[in-house]
Amino acid sequence: MAADALAPAGGGPATVRLAVVDTQVLITDAADPRLADYVGLTDVHLRRSLEAEHGLFIAEGEKVIRRAIAAGYPVRSFLVADDKLATIADVAVDCGAPLYVLPAASVQELTGYRVHRGALASMRRLPLPAVADVLETARRIVVLEDIVDHANVGAVFRCAAALGFDAVLLSPRCADPLYRRAVKVSMGAVFSVPYSRIGDWAGAVDSLKNLGFRVLAMTPDPGATPIGEVSAVAKLALLIGSEGDGLTPRWMAAADERVRIPMSRGVDSLNVAAAAAIACYVLAAR
Ligand SMILES: C[S@@+](CC[C@H](N)C(=O)[O-])C[C@H]1O[C@@H](n2cnc3c(N)ncnc32)[C@H](O)[C@@H]1O
Repeated sequence: MAADALAPAGGGPATVRLAVVDTQVLITDAADPRLADYVGLTDVHLRRSLEAEHGLFIAEGEKVIRRAIAAGYPVRSFLVADDKLATIADVAVDCGAPLYVLPAASVQELTGYRVHRGALASMRRLPLPAVADVLETARRIVVLEDIVDHANVGAVFRCAAALGFDAVLLSPRCADPLYRRAVKVSMGAVFSVPYSRIGDWAGAVDSLKNLGFRVLAMTPDPGATPIGEVSAVAKLALLIGSEGDGLTPRWMAAADERVRIPMSRGVDSLNVAAAAAIACYVLAAR
């Protein structure tokens, strides 16, 4: 590793900087095949197939990348704009993965957007734990049914982590927590909150009840129990529904109780993440 290498030599362009780490590779062409992991990051369909095929996901920003590494996700490579090299240097030093450095304009051409946080890392996915393992010691869990928006998924993980919930379960069709936007909005909480994906959507609520969870269906329906009146229980599962239609009738009917966060001014419903934040806060200690 090159020592004392963060300062550009004589303030010159990045391409003449000393290597920050042995694995640093300067690339000037956005079409270089070594950068294939980072192509079209704003194209959800492309990313879905590419990430599934190669078992990867993208982490963005030094803090989030550091949290992913600490959680045990292996790094395939790093990508950084030449003017942001310092943001990733010390993370990359101990890692041994290639660190690709591109001119800032080429990063945007490659990824499809301006990477404000400077650094990206392509990380290898790990197998999801079994639902039973995730629930083994959990007392407070959030269960997301068919959430579409990755930012909402990330925000719910962040709330669950910050407000003391133990785990998150995802319905089979719920958006991927390791999609770049979800990872970014969660600020890495997707790495710290245990989660898994439910296989049996139809039987999910009954299975949770059999495991001793009191299952609360979160709904803005005025006929539901106000959240302030929910009784204390040992094990609690909060069902949160999708952005458009909310919870499916099946999950709603199977739950032990329907619970609402009272609203005013004629508002129909809260954003998914706002509802999750309030519910986690109110019910964490109950
Ligand atoms: C945007 S809302 C869906 C609105 C949908 N029209 C409905 O009636 O459920 C998404 C999810 O956030 C939760 N939610 C939103 N507002 C809520 C409230 N006031 N009380 C309880 N949960 C709420 C529910 O779980 C809901 O399924």
